[in-house]
Amino acid sequence: MNDHFKIYEHSRQRNVLDVRNLSVAFTGRKTKKTVLSDVSFSIRPGETVALVGESGSGKSVTALSLLRLIERSGGVISGATYFTDNDGQTVDILAQDEKELRAIRGNKISMIFQEPMTSLNPVLSVGFQITEAILAHRDVSAEEAKREAIDLLHKVEIPDPERRFGDYPQQFSGGMRQRVMIAMALACKPSLLIADEPTTALDVTTQARILDIIQRLKEEMNMAVLFITHDLGIVSEIADRVMVMYCGSIIEKADTRNLFNAPSHPYTSGLILSMPAVGSARGKGVPLPAIPGTVPAVWQGARGCTFSPRCSYAIERCRHETPLLQRRNPHSFVEVACHRAAEIRSMLGSLLPWVEAGELGITA
Ligand SMILES: Nc1ncnc2c1ncn2[C@@H]1O[C@H](COP(=O)(O)OP(=O)(O)OP(=O)(O)O)[C@@H](O)[C@H]1O
Ligand SMILES: [Mg+2]
Repeated sequence: MNDHFKIYEHSRQRNVLDVRNLSVAFTGRKTKKTVLSDVSFSIRPGETVALVGESGSGKSVTALSLLRLIERSGGVISGATYFTDNDGQTVDILAQDEKELRAIRGNKISMIFQEPMTSLNPVLSVGFQITEAILAHRDVSAEEAKREAIDLLHKVEIPDPERRFGDYPQQFSGGMRQRVMIAMALACKPSLLIADEPTTALDVTTQARILDIIQRLKEEMNMAVLFITHDLGIVSEIADRVMVMYCGSIIEKADTRNLFNAPSHPYTSGLILSMPAVGSARGKGVPLPAIPGTVPAVWQGARGCTFSPRCSYAIERCRHETPLLQRRNPHSFVEVACHRAAEIRSMLGSLLPWVEAGELGITA
């Protein structure tokens, strides 16, 4: 299938998620702190979209807002989040009441986090917890639910699932607990899985195994995945498309191959050039370039491009005028928020010969 046909086919499918101008603010008695500004994106059925960015950029707030969980810690959300389930029914999650939300959370949209113990109850056996998740949303007998729970433990590669069914979360290692959490998240065959740094706390080998399991089950269930990470290595392995977040806004969107081969935003280029795999491809002894400075703790009210204080390409205009996220050119699906994207793109083209397809494990 050629690329044009694939894009045409995709555009005919209904998106599982359409996020429009999502903004989140935390309000104190006299203060208002905006942490997410006008975030818009879509996810198609069966697609893996990665959300990347440095610590504090707003990735978790985005994830928690999609299921309205951020409201519990005082976040005020605006915008719209259209979710279309497997039956083709579309709802705006932001307009749902708590009862309707309960029917979506953990059922049609599931979430997994970095720390499984926040989702698992330490005083209940893992088998009981998965069985309960099934019974809460589906009309099956207790016996059937137990059978499915054991099957799920088997699918996430827990050895001897019949015996481990009655064990408690603390009897499992970190990697095994993460598998249990995946089993629980997938118990109701969701249309969308939101995974917020699910492998960050694990060693590299365990991380690779968990990523494999998520990929395999995603394909088996034709589930869409929003994968949140700060690790571009993981992105290059698993994502179809990537969104780069900086200071609560998406500053670049591209398909994975395009992003690594031809990043458009100077921040994205900086992130890619900081990857050890790219550093070693450039030659031993060459120090890794770094993006100077850190994400500012507070960015609201700032004029111009939020990245401009750290950007070596910034000109006067960047400090005064906020760049909008727009298509790189009318024929491109890449979107970028940078006044100088076109110029920088042509300059960086010759600076990135080592970012070849294959160097980072990206298949052409
Ligand atoms: N409950 C809250 N009240 C006030 N501010 C919050 C709250 N939760 C998050 N924030 C702020 O929102 C911003 C984005 O935080 P978020 O947790 O989304 O970052 P992140 O990109 O997930 O970072 P990390 O990679 O470290 O997980 C930060 O400035 C954070 O301090
Ligand atoms: Mg986070």
